[in-house]
Amino acid sequence: MEGIEVIEVKSSQELESCFGIRMAVFVEEQNVPREEECDEHEQIATHLLAMNPQGEALGTCRFRQTDYGVKMERFAVLKPARQLGVGQKLLTKALSLVQQRMPSSMIYLHAQVAAKGFYEKNGFYAVGNIFYEADIPHYKMIFKKQKPATILAIESSCDETSAAVIVNGQLLSNVIATQDIHAKYGGVVPELASRAHQQLIVSVVAEALTKANTSKEELSAVAVTHGPGLLGALLVGHSYAKGLSLGLGIPMIGVNHLQAHILAHFIDSPKPSFPFLNLTVSGGNTQIVKVSSFLDMEIIGTTHDDAVGEAFDKTARLLGFEYPGGKWIDHYAKEGNPKAFSFPVKRNMEGYDYSFSGVKTAFMNFCNTKGEAFLQDNLADVCASIQYTLIEILMKPLIDAVEQTGITQVAIAGGVSANRGLRERLQIEAEQRNWAVYVPDFQYCTDNAGMIAIAAHYMYQSDLFLDIEASPEPNMAFVKSK
Ligand code: KG4
Repeated sequence: MEGIEVIEVKSSQELESCFGIRMAVFVEEQNVPREEECDEHEQIATHLLAMNPQGEALGTCRFRQTDYGVKMERFAVLKPARQLGVGQKLLTKALSLVQQRMPSSMIYLHAQVAAKGFYEKNGFYAVGNIFYEADIPHYKMIFKKQKPATILAIESSCDETSAAVIVNGQLLSNVIATQDIHAKYGGVVPELASRAHQQLIVSVVAEALTKANTSKEELSAVAVTHGPGLLGALLVGHSYAKGLSLGLGIPMIGVNHLQAHILAHFIDSPKPSFPFLNLTVSGGNTQIVKVSSFLDMEIIGTTHDDAVGEAFDKTARLLGFEYPGGKWIDHYAKEGNPKAFSFPVKRNMEGYDYSFSGVKTAFMNFCNTKGEAFLQDNLADVCASIQYTLIEILMKPLIDAVEQTGITQVAIAGGVSANRGLRERLQIEAEQRNWAVYVPDFQYCTDNAGMIAIAAHYMYQSDLFLDIEASPEPNMAFVKSK
């Protein structure tokens, strides 16, 4: 190895030396036809040549930019020089040149099966199954620095235990276990939620890993809902994530649940572009958020009392539906007349803020006055009317926000964005007012770890990791980019 130098090929004579070595190795030893050895990529590739102090060429390789990244190929070392570490020198030089010149490209190569160990020692790892190139079995190997970011995400902020796996921004699994235990109590019982999370988390995580065809050992990071949410419920996911982080030596990412609801728009297409306004409508929150980038979000309107999901659930309860009853209002509203009964929509709020207490009281009085038999006989009309009212209340500040900010891209997120009435109303506004409206897929509307995973993906890229000492924050503020 002493004295062997690797140079970047500059002259045609040096290039001829490279071809000479390749002919000797590939054409003579491996019966690769001569014409296959020289191809159209020779011109764009960077060629390297290893020489001894006497100036004799011993080995060569080349690298070139492809659609996927930078491919290293045509490693060839003359037989008498095989044990001198020439291949190692070539690879080290090639890696350092590529990292200098194309630092953000993925570096990959196709290694013959016997050479797998050599490349592994040099930071490559095999992806996928063996494939055949010129009848010779190969592995596709990727340089580890560009190892795909494989993140396990856990959601346990309320009454859904969920785990998801995302690889380089692509969601591979999203397992959700809904806790039914709360239905008979008419709302989420925090202590019961924590216990149910404890019972479910191990199997939910295992299923998410299996569905993504990955293992804990392959994880680059573990993400978890850090807040807002119920402290006891958050603690279960948090402690589990902390254990994985410590055990596997990987960083932990603490995701804001409400930001994640918004970033769910980036799981699938079409994706909004920045800036956009997001109406977050869930069981715990009602917010208008100005989204300037993945991690630059500002709340410009919020509720002063109940969230819209709570308003749906409480009105549903008055009609005799089990918790969470929002979906039943939606279901019966389909057949009803939204103008059959009217409830107050007037708001005494500043700016883009919300209040649902007035309509809640009005609806309670309405139910008490009309009596159960009337409500059951007119169920569809009652549901359609209260749904129409809640949507009216939601729309006014949103319309004001669009008009005053001039931002006409509007997205909705959170459990209530599953509501058909709200979706239809947004489409109508979009057509009349020239908005571009984004509504997430149903499966990403209610609480799920897929949205935690996509948020974690962007945080991972920005190196936003959590201190292992950190505790969950039930009133967590939005995470900002550094
Ligand atoms: O975001 P999410 O899953 O979690 C919490 O913030 O708790 O939202 C749950 C809320 C519940 O209030 C539920 O009744 C409501 O979303 N929801 C609906 C519909 N589907 C779920 N509300 C109205 N119409 C629906 N189709």
